[in-house]
Amino acid sequence: MFIDTHAHYDDEAFDEDRQELLRDLPSKGIDRIIVPGCDVSSSQAAVALAEKYRYVYAACGIHPENLTDDPYADISEIVKLLEHPKCVAIGEIGLDYYWDKSRKEEQKAVFGAQLDLALKAELPVIIHDREAHADSFDVISARPGLKGVFHCYSGSAEMAAKLLKMGWYLGFDGPVTYKNAKKTVEVLEICPLERILIETDSPYLSPLPMRGKRNDSSNLIYIAEKIAAIKGVTIEEIAQRTAENASALFGI
Ligand code: NI
Repeated sequence: MFIDTHAHYDDEAFDEDRQELLRDLPSKGIDRIIVPGCDVSSSQAAVALAEKYRYVYAACGIHPENLTDDPYADISEIVKLLEHPKCVAIGEIGLDYYWDKSRKEEQKAVFGAQLDLALKAELPVIIHDREAHADSFDVISARPGLKGVFHCYSGSAEMAAKLLKMGWYLGFDGPVTYKNAKKTVEVLEICPLERILIETDSPYLSPLPMRGKRNDSSNLIYIAEKIAAIKGVTIEEIAQRTAENASALFGI
């Protein structure tokens, strides 16, 4: 049985068949799922899904691509959601310099404010770091005591080694199955089994052979298969170890 620690089932890509899809996932080997929010409304939607399905959990947070004119008002809405018993993390939060380089300082401030919230609430964090590795590392390093995962880790093996030493988990998604995954393979080679999480980022990032199609948690098997080959273990071991890791980090 697998745990998908990152799937956006509130996304409109699932509007037509969300109910059937989520209902059938346990019969496809998916044991638990974390749905991370990216703004106030998607965080509320994640909590609503967690209320509806026993095996769905929510994370709540403001994604760097979704900064409004008043992100701190949005954060105070997120604070209310953190009280929910099925809200197990703050996320996805972080820095994204790929889409928007113009608000770097504001992104860092909003990211930092949510990390402070995580420390106060004693919750793990789910981090989005796109083309912002050095700054992401600086912002988290300034706050010892944090725990969490770098979702769809895309940094260097050197930075991975530092993060692992600091107790962080690394999340691996569909791109690990792509032909150009050389850097991610290097990271997996140094990442011990007890720090690997597997995620789909559904509806995005479909692994081979589903690339180009809408992604869902049943495709975790392809990610697990590739990681098993890199680590020289069975798919069952990857399923078991990553599920244990998700349970340990998120308390699910
Ligand atoms: Ni995501």
